[in-house]
Formats: sequence, C-alpha cells, structure tokens
Amino acid sequence: MRQLTLFGEDSKYDVASPVRTSFSHDKVCNEDARLALEKKYENIFYVDNRFNRKIVSYQANKGEIVHGWIKYREGFSANLVEILMNEFGIQLGESVIDPFSGSSTVLLVAKTKGVNAVGIELLPVCHLAWDAKSRFYDYDLDELCNIKSIIEKIIPETTKNRFPHIKITETAFSDEVENDLMFFTAWVEKLSVSQKSKILLRLILTSILEEISYTRKDGQYLRWDYRSQKVINRNKTRKEQGKKSIKKVDKGELPAVKDAIVSAISIVISDIRALQKFRFQESTQELIKGNTLFVLPELESDQFSSVITSPPYCNRYDYTRTYALELAYLDIGNSIFDLRQSLLSSTVENRSKLDILRELYLKLDKEKEFDIILNVVTTNPAFVEIIEALHSRWERGDMNNKGVLRMVEQYFIELSFVYAELYRTCKTGAHVAFVNDNVRYGGEIIPIDLLSTNLAEQLGFEPVHVYVLPQRKGNSSQQMGKFGREALRKSITIWKKP
Ligand SMILES: C[S@@+](CC[C@H](N)C(=O)[O-])C[C@H]1O[C@@H](n2cnc3c(N)ncnc32)[C@H](O)[C@@H]1O
Repeated sequence: MRQLTLFGEDSKYDVASPVRTSFSHDKVCNEDARLALEKKYENIFYVDNRFNRKIVSYQANKGEIVHGWIKYREGFSANLVEILMNEFGIQLGESVIDPFSGSSTVLLVAKTKGVNAVGIELLPVCHLAWDAKSRFYDYDLDELCNIKSIIEKIIPETTKNRFPHIKITETAFSDEVENDLMFFTAWVEKLSVSQKSKILLRLILTSILEEISYTRKDGQYLRWDYRSQKVINRNKTRKEQGKKSIKKVDKGELPAVKDAIVSAISIVISDIRALQKFRFQESTQELIKGNTLFVLPELESDQFSSVITSPPYCNRYDYTRTYALELAYLDIGNSIFDLRQSLLSSTVENRSKLDILRELYLKLDKEKEFDIILNVVTTNPAFVEIIEALHSRWERGDMNNKGVLRMVEQYFIELSFVYAELYRTCKTGAHVAFVNDNVRYGGEIIPIDLLSTNLAEQLGFEPVHVYVLPQRKGNSSQQMGKFGREALRKSITIWKKP
C-alpha cells in the first residue's frame, strides 16, 4: 500500500492500513476468497488525500456554478471529475462516458473542457436537469431577468390545480404552499416565453420542492417534519397504542414558494451571466435517457477514451423514494414502480433483469457474450463466497431482510454486464474510474471495490489503482448494534483497457 500525498493539518487520516484482515464477524463464514483479493490487490491501494468525503459527494458542488441548480445528493463533485480527467490526460475532442450520469456532472465538466461526452441515465429528474443545465449558453438573460421581475410582483391566487400526489408524497406541503406551487406551475405553463426558458423554470420549480415541503431527503428515506399531517396522524395512532411519538424532525421556518423561486432564479441568472462570458471549445455532449444495461450493448465499440462514473451504491437506497416528490411533480408518479425495477439492483425490492437482458443479447446476436459475462461473475470465488455467506447469515437469523441476498447477487451480475460493455466500447488505453462504497450485511463485509476490480480484470481490464479515501465509512446503526463498528472503505477504482 502506498501513500500518494501529504496530509493536511485538518486531515482525519486514519493511519490504519486499508487492507482488511477479516470480513466475517466472529469468523462465522468462510472469508478466504475475500482475503485473497486483498492480497492480490494490496499493491495498488493508495490512501489518497486528494479525495475526501466532500469531493466524492455532492457537498463540494454546493454553490458551484450550474452544478448547484438542483441538489442531487447522490452526485459527485465537478472538482473530482476535473482531477480524474486531468489524471487520465483527456484531450480536446476525445470522448468520455458516464453510464450512471445522475445530475450530469461529467457531461457538464466535459462541456467546459471541450471534451465530448455521453451520459446514460434513467431518472426523469436528472433528464430535466440536463435539459436545463446544458443550455446555459443559449438562454436570453434579458428574458430571464424580465421573468424574475414579473414573479417578484405576483401575488399567488387560489388555484383548483392539485399536486399529482402519490401515496408517499401525500401531505408533504401545507395547503398554502401546495396552492402557491400549483399556481406558479400553471403560470409558467401559460407564460409566453421561449421553450428553453420554460424548461429552466420547470427545473427551478422542481429544485425548490424539498425546501418548501415538510420532507427532508435522508439517504434511504424521506424524513417528515412534525407539522405534516402524516406525522400528526401517525403520532395519534401511536398514542392510542401507548407508544412513544416518533422522533421529532423540525425543518424550522419554511420559505414561501415565491421567495424560493426568486432566490433560485437569481442564482441561475447570475451563473448564466458568468458562464456566457466564457467561450469553451466546441464539443458535443449527449444524455441518453434510458437504462444503461440495455443502452450500452447497442453502442459502437472502441469509441471512449475514458469512463468516469459512480453507480448506485449497494446500500438499499431507493432513488424513487428519495425523489418521490420530484417524480410525482413531474407527473411520473404512476410509473414509479417500473422505474424502481429498472434501476441497477440496489434495493431489496429489485427483481432480476436477466431474462430481458438475455433477450436483448439474443437479438443482437451476442448470446455467447451474455453467457461468458454471466459465467465470469457467477463462478468468481469471492462472489460465490459472499452469496454463500449471506445465505448462511440469513439462516442464522443475522439478517432482517432476505431481499438483501438477491440485491447483492443482482448488483454484481448487472455491474459485470456494465463492465464488459464498457470494455468493449472503450478504446485501447482508455482509463476507467468507478466511485463506490463497500458495505456490510449480516456481519459480512462486501468489498465492492475489490470484487469489482477482480470482475473487471476477468473481463479484460487491467487494474491500475484503488484510491482509498482517508476517512473510512461507518455502518448502519443496525449493523453496529449487532456486530460492532467496522470502518469500511470508500474507494475510487481505476482500471485501464490494455
Ligand atoms: C450515484 S448516482 C450518480 C451521480 C452522478 N455521478 C452525479 O454526479 O450526479 C447513480 C445514478 O445512476 C442512475 N441509475 C441507476 N440505475 C441505472 C440504470 N440501470 N441505467 C441508467 N441510470 C441508472 C441513478 O438514477 C443515479 O442517478
């Protein structure tokens, strides 16, 4: 293990080596294959102080021009993308791909660097974000300033329009907030301005939903403020059952809808003004609005000079729940179930997509490739060990949800198809960066970084580095309570197409 950089005074560097010497709590399950992976890749570990929690998350994007237009907590920072692009030596006119594009951080950074880019993404909120952000050159600032000053003078009227709620979003707003939000929504629709300004206004309205609501995004769930009817009703029932009230969440004073819109549009105008002063090199970026698993196999081979991405982590977080408010607002509440099923398996509800994937490979005359990829992952010793360990943990009663088993299994299977297709679509010499978190279930540590590296290697890539963040990641309170604390790695794995 090598150390690349010196540690700043405020560094919380954990001097412990990132190499693990145990994976199974109390050594209940076999851990030989996971230990073998640690040994195999020991020499490519780098504890690297360039990468901290802030930079690999959305935090460092707060207030960043354009990137801050919608808070996408699952994103990584523009700064991280710049560091990686520089490290990979990506030149003008070359092409980079992000198969899990999210809020399009990679595409936007590429645009400012004259680098071509392709993103793939399923979530409609992210599609809207790209449709609005990518046009930063094209907006008419006079038109936007004019819209802003009209909004400032508006007094919202009562409207009959209703928010298209789904079960989980009901009572997310006070009556007044919901009325004003729907008033402004209808107002924007009728506004006689350019289509691009309307798209931008739609993003702005979508971006304020959380702050004007009684909800707060919190990893796996939406937390609800104590004033929401949902919490009031729940507490009433709990009281009748003699139970304690649920832990109070108080979001404090919520902004008026109009104030939130004006504040968001002011930031957007100021960002656009700053960006329009620059002339970046011509380049093209495209966001493909679809499922990576089904889009990648249809892309041409040998075209990308690099991959910079972060898939959903294998942590049970459900994007369709955290973004329920935004999805309902965009009127796709009714397709939430299908959307959840299409996302890379990372929740306990996900079912296998292998049958439909097989059909696609058959249609593309790539049946042999399908079998090879599936065989690589399902016979990988660490994969087999992990799945067996989780089975025995389930049988011992160490896990509270059997869905975790299928989630972990499908997670690696699906990612293997992604790795194989990235290998095919990358040019020789291309570099690949995957940001991911290791996880633990039922007392079993799952080295996502090294198993991924191993699968990628079996599929043709050359492992280059595993950059490990100096700060390790904690565990869920459930895991901590049952199995004690184990610091888990958060890594950026770097591979190369030889
Ligand atoms: C960790 S986030 C990536 C965030 C991104 N790096 C950014 O800066 O915003 C993972 C993204 O993958 C998307 N995703 C999950 N499964 C997908 C699939 N099968 N096809 C396309 N996108 C998918 C999710 O919607 C989510 O936006």
